[in-house]
Amino acid sequence: MSIDTDTERLTARAREISAREHERLLERTRGSARLYERAARVLPLGVASNFQANDPYPIYLDRGLGSHVWDVDGKEYVDYHGGFGVNVVGHAHPKIVSAIEQAARRGIHFAVTTEPAVALAEELCRRFRLERVRIVNSGTEATMDAIRVARAATGREIVLKIEGSYHGHHDTVLFSVVPEADVLGLRQTTSGEAADSAGDVYRTIPTSKGVPKVMAEYTLIVPFNDAAALEHVLSERGDEIAALIMEPIMMNIGIVVPQPGYLEAVRDLCSKHGVVLIFDEVKSGATVAPGGAIELYGVQPDLACFAKAIGGGATIGAFGGRADVMDVVTRGAAQQGTFNGNPLTARAGLVALTEVLTPDAYEHLAKLGARLAGGCRTAIEENRIPAHAVDLGAKGCVSYRPQPLQNYRDFLDCNAELFTASWPWLLNRSIFMTPGDEEQWTIGVQHTDEDVDRYVEAFAEFCSELEG
Ligand SMILES: Cc1ncc(COP(=O)(O)O)c(C=O)c1O
Repeated sequence: MSIDTDTERLTARAREISAREHERLLERTRGSARLYERAARVLPLGVASNFQANDPYPIYLDRGLGSHVWDVDGKEYVDYHGGFGVNVVGHAHPKIVSAIEQAARRGIHFAVTTEPAVALAEELCRRFRLERVRIVNSGTEATMDAIRVARAATGREIVLKIEGSYHGHHDTVLFSVVPEADVLGLRQTTSGEAADSAGDVYRTIPTSKGVPKVMAEYTLIVPFNDAAALEHVLSERGDEIAALIMEPIMMNIGIVVPQPGYLEAVRDLCSKHGVVLIFDEVKSGATVAPGGAIELYGVQPDLACFAKAIGGGATIGAFGGRADVMDVVTRGAAQQGTFNGNPLTARAGLVALTEVLTPDAYEHLAKLGARLAGGCRTAIEENRIPAHAVDLGAKGCVSYRPQPLQNYRDFLDCNAELFTASWPWLLNRSIFMTPGDEEQWTIGVQHTDEDVDRYVEAFAEFCSELEG
């Protein structure tokens, strides 16, 4: 059979499976449907954040314990959603519960720095080889403040961003996050004029309404894994560029790893042009290795941003790096916040990083990750599914494209229909996953071999059903 006919056949199968499994999911989740009706009266889309929405309604959770979660219908799942990559400690971990309980008894909030916040800052500096750090409340705040610091430190205003990367929801970074395929061919010159396919950089495509148009002039877009494109932009406009913000491992289009030598080349180019290199490790930090991508690849940025897993489930963000760059916050660059470093977060984060996410824990995560990705690979091969599995410690995913991805454009090649069918299939078999194919699984320290085997079994059945 030709590749085209094979793809058409698989896609048609996926549509059938998707329709059937969605219907079954709706039957199983009537309590979520009822809560949605109530929620949608007060919360747009019935949720607290657009990323929590789903069509026709989201599955609302009631509780979590260890590696499992229960929805409002009382259905139990093994959790691989992991709160979008936060729950590497799992749910209700006794050490985290006790840390939060103790903190609550001693005063939940002061807006005054406490000793645990200092200890957390020390641990963040040790783990990620930072000289100075500030604790904030989310990944968005971390990247927003890091960009402010970079602009203040360099006296420059333009920021370079990678096509297809997500760095939170502040204005500077809400460009070219998920640009539609039909605008991708469009390029512009480095001075911002529209150009034909020979233009220098990718067009800066707005991602959100409500961002002033003028902001597009401050964000230039380059592709991932392409040091030559970066070199070209820097050679033309390097002296206007404050920072390059990038995920060292792209983790909002499945997972895209940097090609050998790419991060080193990026590091050299930024140093040569006096551009502050910011690694956004909101997803990779404390998940792919104890010291995140910084440790995994041995490339040190000037600033790095963290959130998610570093708080043990509590609301957190942090950013830091070179002392001489961070120093601008003592000389006129605004960096502040009422809840920064509050005692609940500080204690939860400290205990997560020093008592739960220990070297043994990372060994456990690596073992489980290899077992999960290995099991998925076997099912993919046996059923000749056009997909591949990526395994990076606590993080991993299946992307529905045979070859690994190099950049955002490769992500658009993935067969989204196969993912759409897999999601309700897995949920109906008690595997809780994120509803979007841009996300990936998160394994926690409380997951077991049995949990992993449950995923592999459900996934293998899906592959064989697809293959028909
Ligand atoms: C790489 C990256 N940076 C920043 C953010 C924003 O973090 P938050 O949702 O905590 O604001 C996210 C969120 O998913 C992310 O994946």
